[in-house]
Amino acid sequence: MGIGGSDMYRQQILDHYKNPRNHGELEDATFTHVGENPMCGDTIEMDVVLDDDDEETIEAVAFRGDGCAISQASASMLSERLQGMTIEELEGLDRDDVIDMLGVDISPMRVKCAVLAEKVAQDGAEIYFGEKDLDATSTEDDDVHEE
Ligand code: FES
Repeated sequence: MGIGGSDMYRQQILDHYKNPRNHGELEDATFTHVGENPMCGDTIEMDVVLDDDDEETIEAVAFRGDGCAISQASASMLSERLQGMTIEELEGLDRDDVIDMLGVDISPMRVKCAVLAEKVAQDGAEIYFGEKDLDATSTEDDDVHEE
């Protein structure tokens, strides 16, 4: 799979890849957004339900997609973490948080796989709140260094 790090974390990634958590759709989604890693064409689509009262807390997340183990495991792990998080906390996440969550060394090329789900969730929220106008997220817009 081309990722380094401890066996435990590798096992965890494979487990999330094979048994993705929160996989599917949410009919009552507050917003839905899709994104792609244009280098490979892999996609993640995410549904997010916000708390009815304050619209600041994430109540539920579901995703579906096609892609490598890192992109899909990252979406699965993130879908668990996001529940109970505020929109502000979501917007505060960066690629280091995602890489920490995965717990493995990610090569520069694979960083785009790792951050796809995070970017989809963040862009989806920004579009919903009128802060961004975008049809689909692309990791191409990320300023990741490729070495
Ligand atoms: Fe496509 Fe990882 S190889 S997202």
